[in-house]
Amino acid sequence: MTRAEARKRVETLAREIREHDHRYYVLDRPAISDAAYDRLFRELQALEEQFPDLRAPDSPTQRVGGALREAFKKVRHVRPMRSLDSLMEKDEVLEFDARVRKGLEVEEVTYVAEPKFDGLSVELVYEDGVLQRGSTRGDGETGEDITENLRTIRAVPLRLHEDGRAVKGVIAVRGEALMPLSEFEALNRRLIEQGEEPFANPRNAAAGTVRQLDPGITAARRLDLYAYDVMHVEGLRFKTQTEMAEALRGWGFHVEKRARHCAGIEPALAFHADLEARRDTLDYEVDGVVVKVDRCDWQELLGMRSRSPRWAVAFKFPPRIEVTKVLDIVVQVGRTGKLTPVASLQPVDVSGVTVSRATLHNEDEVLRKDVRVGDTVRVRRAGDVIPEVVEVLTEKRPRGTKAFAMPSKCPVCAAPVEREGAYHVCTNGLSCPAQLEGHVIHFAARGAMDVAGLGAKTVIQLIEQGLVRNLADVYQLTPIDFAGLEGFAEKSIENMMAALEASKKPRLDRFLVALGIEHVGETVARLLAEHYGAVAKLMEADAEELQQIHGIGPEVAESVAHFFASARNRKVLDRLFEAGVRPVHEKRAKGPQPLAGQVVVFTGGLERLTRPEAQKKAEDAGARIASAISKRVTLVVAGPGAGSKLDEAKKLKIEVIDEAAFLKRIGEK
Ligand code: IVH
Repeated sequence: MTRAEARKRVETLAREIREHDHRYYVLDRPAISDAAYDRLFRELQALEEQFPDLRAPDSPTQRVGGALREAFKKVRHVRPMRSLDSLMEKDEVLEFDARVRKGLEVEEVTYVAEPKFDGLSVELVYEDGVLQRGSTRGDGETGEDITENLRTIRAVPLRLHEDGRAVKGVIAVRGEALMPLSEFEALNRRLIEQGEEPFANPRNAAAGTVRQLDPGITAARRLDLYAYDVMHVEGLRFKTQTEMAEALRGWGFHVEKRARHCAGIEPALAFHADLEARRDTLDYEVDGVVVKVDRCDWQELLGMRSRSPRWAVAFKFPPRIEVTKVLDIVVQVGRTGKLTPVASLQPVDVSGVTVSRATLHNEDEVLRKDVRVGDTVRVRRAGDVIPEVVEVLTEKRPRGTKAFAMPSKCPVCAAPVEREGAYHVCTNGLSCPAQLEGHVIHFAARGAMDVAGLGAKTVIQLIEQGLVRNLADVYQLTPIDFAGLEGFAEKSIENMMAALEASKKPRLDRFLVALGIEHVGETVARLLAEHYGAVAKLMEADAEELQQIHGIGPEVAESVAHFFASARNRKVLDRLFEAGVRPVHEKRAKGPQPLAGQVVVFTGGLERLTRPEAQKKAEDAGARIASAISKRVTLVVAGPGAGSKLDEAKKLKIEVIDEAAFLKRIGEK
């Protein structure tokens, strides 16, 4: 291919990929399958590799930075990023409306009411339509340069769509980076699975992700970004807030559709009540409603105070917080040896969910909050998951309590505990039953080696009896070993031996997940499997080589290389292979893809297929699998016993079919 031809092709590919990104991430209407998208992407990558000078800074391939950032540079915002006054009471909102009308000397004001996103406020600066810089809010005047990380968010246009509107000069846009709840839950599941600390709420997860020093990790965690304000634009004036939102949408941003136009303040109050009632059904955390004067000339007339505008307020939702007592603080030991203090609480109902435990993360966190056994505390449920202790009501502290101290010995195996950064870890490795237990349970679980019937209860017994000392021992087990365990009769032993045998040919990516390498969950494992196709090749890769893979950053690369360099791990691997374990990698099906572009949820029972089989078939047919209903889901396969997911799907008018129709659709009868 000549340079001129390459240039043309690069431009076409970039344009098409940009369009597909927009359709997928902003419009929720993908037009092609993931596989087809990947092909376009790889073709572009290859051409840019061959002709490096054709690699534009706004090329879609540049969403994944590879470089480890030292620290984030401070940058000055184009316009100060002000905050909003937070109001808790309806009366305060009525007063706001009265002040606005008085200030403008009018009878009635049109407002726009929209969800207040509980994420991270960011500024995006474009020059002649190309993204130059993105930063955190910081102190409002200067923030931190997080451009590389914001680039990885697919809802952020790297180049503004022209849309007939001028995109010349400098445009500064403000928006909120956030983590959708579905992604948050999946991320926490992955983190726990990888033996890491989960995030307490989606806001922390988004903040931690946006301030990642490794953009590869940011890219792997899918953030979203909603734009809500044009802070600066040259040669363009908006008449209303609504018109501004239209412009943002036209430039390719994700803009909240739920914004409501309100004649007067009453409908805005109604919107607040309505949204609060639906709060738990949204796919992201919302902590209130923002009420803004719609007309821009009126906004200007009203002007700003030093920290906040006079034309907008945040009408917050009451927090999901309750008061309860700490009954105990127990220290748990995870798969990686990390010690986590957990508060065990007097059960309390926090807006509909009973909370009886709260993570305290690590020693510093306990000491910072000074949580003690016997204390009365405020607990918050954030983003529907792990509850956290917000603060101690010290005035209610009984006499004689003691400050918490991390044990110096592992509570499970009594080995010495060492501090690593903010955490304490048991130094006993796989000789610590808690760590070994975690490893083996993870190894045998679904999504990993998938040994049917080898669950926590059996694993614990096997370890107690000294029958399993590392992962490879699992495949040395004999019927006699199981005969001594509780709950095993002749038939179940037979089944167990058959299950072990059947698990010896796992999919390569699942095998990699099973090994429990730090940072290697489903997503990374799939990337590695696709790239190398065989364990042997992966074992020889060093960190530098691993980093070349699209989507793998330095921290992940380091962890993988480190794992395979360890003599101890290699020995375990050798023994696994000797026992007949053969991971297999099938290149993605190239056949017809009747479910291309579909996002499928399975719920309820299946009769002809097992759930994993059905999911694999759906994936082979081009679909992606989701575990929860959201508006991204396009198809639900429901069977007997389907419950709330089916109801939700119907509410969202998502197509629902049964197993027979599913089989028919993928071309099997
Ligand atoms: S408009 C001049 N709209 O809430 C300020 N802000 O507590 C214009 N926020 O820092 C802001 N959702 O980052 C606006 N729909 C929304 C918002 C929103 C969340 C954030 C904003 C601000 C904070 C104030």
